[in-house]
Amino acid sequence: MTHRHGLNWDKAQAVLQRERSAFAAKMPRSRDLSAQAGQHLLFGVPMHWMNDWSTPFSLYVEAAKGARFRDVDGHEYVDFCLGDTGAMFGHAPEPVGRALAAQAQKGFTTMLPSEDAPWVASELARRFGLPYWQFAMTASDANRFVIRWARAATGRSKVLIFNGCYHGTVDDVFVDLIDGAPVQRDSLLGQVYDLKQHTKVVEFNDLAALEAALQDGDVACVLAEPALTNIGMVLPDPGYWEAAQALIRRYGSLLAIDETHTISTGVGGYTRAFGLQPDIFVIGKPIGGGVPCAAYGFSAELAQRVQAAKRSAPPGHSGIGTTLTANMLTMAAMRANLAEVMTEAAYTHMFQLAERLASGLREVITRYQLPWCVTQVGARTEFQFCTTPPRNGSEAAQILDSELEQIIHLYLLNRGQLITPFHNMILVCPDTTATDVYKLISCFADFVAETVA
Ligand SMILES: Cc1ncc(COP(=O)(O)O)c(C=O)c1O
Repeated sequence: MTHRHGLNWDKAQAVLQRERSAFAAKMPRSRDLSAQAGQHLLFGVPMHWMNDWSTPFSLYVEAAKGARFRDVDGHEYVDFCLGDTGAMFGHAPEPVGRALAAQAQKGFTTMLPSEDAPWVASELARRFGLPYWQFAMTASDANRFVIRWARAATGRSKVLIFNGCYHGTVDDVFVDLIDGAPVQRDSLLGQVYDLKQHTKVVEFNDLAALEAALQDGDVACVLAEPALTNIGMVLPDPGYWEAAQALIRRYGSLLAIDETHTISTGVGGYTRAFGLQPDIFVIGKPIGGGVPCAAYGFSAELAQRVQAAKRSAPPGHSGIGTTLTANMLTMAAMRANLAEVMTEAAYTHMFQLAERLASGLREVITRYQLPWCVTQVGARTEFQFCTTPPRNGSEAAQILDSELEQIIHLYLLNRGQLITPFHNMILVCPDTTATDVYKLISCFADFVAETVA
């Protein structure tokens, strides 16, 4: 008998085979659509990542609303993936739907500002504490633009990131730390530049390494999630950010905080909840209620510097912004979402459920004496295959087990629960109910009971 993370691996493999067959048997329509898709969609899916789910072929969605969606074969699911945060405030929130319908009568895009723009910017300033804002279509775009602004404002070329980070498809961040040395990610397709030239990478929670990397005075900005969420969750040590911010300031670098995922911490993100003082704040994915858009804010001091950089540049394209950026439709979506969906009340509900979820999962882990733990950032909960939460990207990478993750994900999916396909992240939204959470805990317990060593 092989053991893996406290489970009997032979049993887990048998469960996988059974669950794959069960999925295939009850999804004739998804199977047909997958076959059709194979004819003209490259890789058989509209985006090649869509093949990374645990299912033997794609699960096709018929409709998604609130915390739930229905597949094309008529099965209902509670969605704890929520588009990996894009739908963190529920699918198709009513106020956003209304705003989109109203805006649909008034045009989508003109490359001119609509009346919603100043409202949205002032609300972002009120919530997140940075006074000046610009927009992008995705968080990836926003991060690319932010890096440019930071380089332009400081005249420095380097970006400093934390090992194991993810900030979207931003070339500058695909450098890993392997045995202490920076290594360009070898899975990148078509990457012809040496990314190590302008990117420094250090471990999270390592102040000495951060200081050593900043000391040369060539780092334009530190681009960071306040807690890593993309290699499994890694929380900052107590006092880490206070000290890290002081170092970043001391060496004249900027701090760009990417709250695209950690917005799960509260209405003002991790930044407001923990009193961070970034120079730049990035928010994407759920900010428009699932409509593609992103925003980034500047401190007053940095705003002066980026404006000076723009003024002193020759006329022509800045390399920042795209035609559809800040279009009227996205502005209407952001306004409705900020005003009526991303509310304190919504967060209070999400926090209560996330607490129940975390304690329920912990109870199962303890009951079966699994060497696992549960980590939380507000409405975002994750079970991890280690007894104590990882402290940096290397530790987090070591405990990832995509084979086991896929078995658990498929087991849950076949029982009407969808969790994120990458590691074991679970989100609750304002429409998730306590019953949904109990059912998830109970399915998780059933899986463990069936496979425990
Ligand atoms: C922290 C963070 N920033 C940026 C992004 C990129 O978002 P998008 O794929 O919407 O561009 C992601 C995506 O997962 C993310 O987790």
